[in-house]
Amino acid sequence: MSEWKKICLVTDIPVLGSRRVARANGVDVAVFRNDQDGVFALLDRCPHKGGPLSQGIVFGTSVACPLHNWTIGLADGCARAPDEGCTPKFSVKVTDGSVFLDSEELASHAIDLLAPVAGPGQKTAITSEAWVDLDQQHQCQHGA
Ligand code: FES
Repeated sequence: MSEWKKICLVTDIPVLGSRRVARANGVDVAVFRNDQDGVFALLDRCPHKGGPLSQGIVFGTSVACPLHNWTIGLADGCARAPDEGCTPKFSVKVTDGSVFLDSEELASHAIDLLAPVAGPGQKTAITSEAWVDLDQQHQCQHGA
């Protein structure tokens, strides 16, 4: 049975943007919001060469990777043809304007996939589950 962890409010995520959730192990999770207030969660790692999808441009139910402009579906994490490959998706629930992720998935899902070795998505250490703004200027802890 899933244990849902409150991450933030929907309104904490920019429309047509994203926020990242850092994990104790593994690559961050990118949580996206589209212009219909749909919320989606994917591993912050493009299936092409590991680009940071959290820094991509959201449109409809897709995000354009900032590195080579592949289009990745937010609902399934898969590249749109003619490109191929998928990035892991995460369960997300929105209740009363709050965004929840599955605690077990956060702890264990896709932790074997590494961050890219170069480029803007590189991270050298992920030590907390802090909620991190892209520009690193604000941080909002879980449950805030
Ligand atoms: S790394 Fe995303 S399109 Fe190349």
